Amino acid sequence: MTQVAIVGAGAAGLATGIFIRRLNPALSVTLFDGAAKPGAKILVSGGSRCNVTNVAVTERDFWGGKPTIIRRVLRGLPVTDTVAWFASLGVPLHEEAHGKLFPDSNRSRDVLDALMRELDASGATLRPSTRITAITRSPAGFVLQTPGESIHADVVVLATGGQSLPKTGSDGAGLAMARDLGHRIVPTTPALAPLIVERTAPGVQGVAHDVDLTVWVDGSVGVRLSGALLWTHFGVSGPVVLDASRHWLRAALEDRAVRVTVNLFPGESFERVDADWTARAVARPRTSLHTTLTDALPASLASLVLQHLQLDETTPLAHLARSDRRRLAHALVEWPLAVTGSRGYNYAEATAGGVALDELNPASMESRRCAGLYLVGEMLDVDGRIGGFNFQWAWSSARVAARAIIT
Ligand code: FDA
Repeated sequence: MTQVAIVGAGAAGLATGIFIRRLNPALSVTLFDGAAKPGAKILVSGGSRCNVTNVAVTERDFWGGKPTIIRRVLRGLPVTDTVAWFASLGVPLHEEAHGKLFPDSNRSRDVLDALMRELDASGATLRPSTRITAITRSPAGFVLQTPGESIHADVVVLATGGQSLPKTGSDGAGLAMARDLGHRIVPTTPALAPLIVERTAPGVQGVAHDVDLTVWVDGSVGVRLSGALLWTHFGVSGPVVLDASRHWLRAALEDRAVRVTVNLFPGESFERVDADWTARAVARPRTSLHTTLTDALPASLASLVLQHLQLDETTPLAHLARSDRRRLAHALVEWPLAVTGSRGYNYAEATAGGVALDELNPASMESRRCAGLYLVGEMLDVDGRIGGFNFQWAWSSARVAARAIIT
């Protein structure tokens, strides 16, 4: 018998356990996790440096459920409070590019160790290697089933994560349990995942550069994002691709016509690129196409573009036909990426879809379908962009649930 059973001891579950015990040490709290060593995802996060949060977090940094609900939950633990909380745990954070906040030690291990130390000090009980296989309502609360025992709890917090990196233990089983308790599950897809491209060009593997990337859905702009793109042996990766992946995958899931183009000259239009090449042909008529392109693009990418358009690299600008110049300008601002899919959950950093947000009370994270059931973290229909937003969602939703559970 435990008063509060938390299923899942990842970022959201650990934070919920700590917050509850710190707010009300009289409540008995037990965390169950199927993994022998919970917290694996914290360890691998941010290239093993753990991007704990971001200096500026708003509902606009997330996709999925209703922005008003996301805003409400984020307010439960604002970034300044997150930073102060981690400092109080002995993990001061510092800011890096794009507002990302990392531990000063640059070690995700220190983040996990601090959370585990605090959980232990708070007096909550952690039961690793204890997978919950089913949860049912009972007259007195809930019965949680493990392969060997039945555990009774007054209150249950589901914090089982999404489906990304399933070998860490978050494999979607928690979503099935939420469904069994009456919840609607928005169909899931990987998010923040590298994309597979039909024809990869070996020459550009390893090349990274800034682009504007557009996901076109049913012929209209679905989303336009800017950032670094990395060419790989399977296709493309890099922050802008990871952020775009959920848009491509969700459109494909809904059977909509979806395609991706990248503007290799970020911020530039066809007209401006065309005019620039016209001006260059006058100023430097003898310069080759390839040399001109390498002013802006890595040499291997410049070669790829010219080969694709069947233009001779050595052609002097003065000899470039108007129609070819226009073809080139068009290709540079709308380079098609023949995306065929993503690398899947094994390579995804997050999950799009999950438990529908509108079936929760955002002031408490309590289910509107099943009283006494609370849901937090990535298992909900919320996915943040790259930059520490998914962890902030875990901390904030944990805080909201904890405050509601202790009252
Ligand atoms: P999480 O998946 O962390 O934890 C769920 C826990 O529940 C697991 O320990 C699992 O074992 C347990 N569990 C599941 N089913 C169970 C069951 N039936 N019984 C018992 N236990 C069960 N985000 C960010 O903001 N900054 C970053 O730097 C990164 N970097 C990053 C890198 C990589 C490689 C990945 C895969 C992900 C990230 N993320 C990230 C995303 C971030 O890690 C993620 O959003 C949070 O860890 C989600 O926390 P949760 O606690 O919700 O789920």
